[in-house]
Amino acid sequence: MKKIEFFRHNINNDDLFRLNHVLRSIFLTTGTEVALFEEAFSKYLGVKQTVGVTSCTAALHLSLLALGIGNGDEVITTPMSFCATANSILHTGAKPVFVDVEEDTGNMNAELLETAITEKTKAILPVHLYGQMCDMKKIYKIASKYKLKIVEDAAHSIEASRAGLKPGQISDAACFSFYATKNITSGEGGAISTNNIKLAEILRMLRLHGIDKSAADRYTGKYRHWDMPVLGWKYNMDNIQASLLLGQLRRIDKLWEKRNQLWEYYETFLKTIKEINLLKTLPGLKHARHLFTILVPARRRDQIVWSLQKNNIGVAVNYRPIHLLKYYRKTYGFKEGDFPVAEEIGQRTISLPLYPLLKKSEVLHIVNVLKKIFAIN
Ligand SMILES: Cc1ncc(COP(=O)(O)O)c(C=O)c1O
Repeated sequence: MKKIEFFRHNINNDDLFRLNHVLRSIFLTTGTEVALFEEAFSKYLGVKQTVGVTSCTAALHLSLLALGIGNGDEVITTPMSFCATANSILHTGAKPVFVDVEEDTGNMNAELLETAITEKTKAILPVHLYGQMCDMKKIYKIASKYKLKIVEDAAHSIEASRAGLKPGQISDAACFSFYATKNITSGEGGAISTNNIKLAEILRMLRLHGIDKSAADRYTGKYRHWDMPVLGWKYNMDNIQASLLLGQLRRIDKLWEKRNQLWEYYETFLKTIKEINLLKTLPGLKHARHLFTILVPARRRDQIVWSLQKNNIGVAVNYRPIHLLKYYRKTYGFKEGDFPVAEEIGQRTISLPLYPLLKKSEVLHIVNVLKKIFAIN
């Protein structure tokens, strides 16, 4: 069987047509396409404003800065995420403080939040792991009690909702990724969604050096001088990225349906392998179905990863917990045993291929290869 890639994007001829149109126009940087994308994305999420940026890392960094987080502050987050989550806190000068995760979902355990709050705590940064939202109502209640900001890492969860809430609806800001393997992608890209119009205004300035006029403002109409009231960054999304995202956003629910179907196939076929466990999808919520992960016995995980690769199946490990990465151990003295639930998931997890172009027969093949691996080992 030919290689089953870990991920294949879904950019189609309509997207290429739109991209071509932008490439043939005069204006490649932040302009009309970005504005159209921001509007459509806000509408999809049911929030007031979206600000397009170059990555989710940039989105997290800017959101924290715009909310006044910096040197000497602490931000509570989860160790079960990509390092970008905690790195974005470090980029502001603040310190990431981890709490362990729930065994069932791998999401930040909201019950532990209060134990991690100190005088220095300024914000909570939950991650909606693999596409399943954290309990935002519980997190919001705690944040309100201690007057903390909430920035959601929604890199996996554009399509998700829980208890009638979508990312960005009750937090200060939700940050999204359009990285190469995300549910909709422009290779690199990100966005911040918020119901706070004033915050969105600040974010628009901060994403472009802190200057008060965008290139589009400067290009169209009569020349006007611009000024730089604050120091910002160079994080603005461009028209090329937006042109790739607009069409994918229009068919985002159809793409979700396909992944959801494949997810169900995996769950059904995998039932016969008793050595494999799955995290739970909690009842009554919509899971964005971003990453399909299995949990295997820790001592066999790496061997199984290599065996799958040897069988031409693309896999990934999402994630070995952040606190055990070299830099975090060295800088903060974290060690094994600090966050045991996250560590156990980190030792047992394997992500399998999941994308709309994946076929049912390929899911079946992957499960059959797993069966053989378990029979042999
Ligand atoms: C949970 C999570 N947060 C943040 C990021 C960073 O996203 P980006 O690559 O767009 O900066 C990723 C990317 O993989 C992610 O999975």
